[in-house]
Amino acid sequence: MSISIAILVSGRGSNMEAILEAIAEGKLNATVPVVLSNNPDAVALETARKHGVNAVAVPNRGLTREQHEDAVIAELRKYDIDYVVLAGYMRVLTPKFLTEFRDKAAGYFRVINIHPSLLPAFPGADAYGEAFAHGVLVSGITIHLVDEQVDHGPILAQESFQRFDGDTLESFKKRGLEVEHRLYPAVLQKIATHGIKLVPRQEAQAVAAPAHGRSTGA
Ligand code: GRF
Repeated sequence: MSISIAILVSGRGSNMEAILEAIAEGKLNATVPVVLSNNPDAVALETARKHGVNAVAVPNRGLTREQHEDAVIAELRKYDIDYVVLAGYMRVLTPKFLTEFRDKAAGYFRVINIHPSLLPAFPGADAYGEAFAHGVLVSGITIHLVDEQVDHGPILAQESFQRFDGDTLESFKKRGLEVEHRLYPAVLQKIATHGIKLVPRQEAQAVAAPAHGRSTGA
């Protein structure tokens, strides 16, 4: 099956480009009716247009979060979209936005994000920098469904990469980005073929502290 995806970007757009290239090469069975950016100067918009894709800026400057999201929702409603794909979109989405893309049968939101760490480690805007500064020997990339908390939703795929002796933050990031550019199109193709498959998540159980000085008789 072919899936219709809206790609949301804020900057460089290298993941967006990897997705568009995978489509052009016949490796990803998807259409992209719109690439949308909150940043009118995003290089990603130019790159999308070079690929012949409809690219739209919905600037957030001067708007409240609600006003901006309403404008984004109004733009996205013009298209028939199966999934919203975040690729370096630097805005936190509110429950109102997510509800717009709620899969009623499954209960999750059809909004997908890529994050450059092995979540739940290093959530937030500088995952590469924080993982590198922490001295991790293995890091990785996570692709997940978006939920109401930042970098938290159900995990769709993860792939690790190593930190090598002599790595700089730049070489560490470069290795991670190569994984990102391969993994994102591959996961989207898996979704196009099989739909979303989730590993059930179990909430951590509170462990009762052992009672001291009392025999349980056991
Ligand atoms: C990527 O590292 C992605 O994992 C993170 O933001 C960065 C976006 O890069 N969410 P690009 O705009 O796709 O080049």
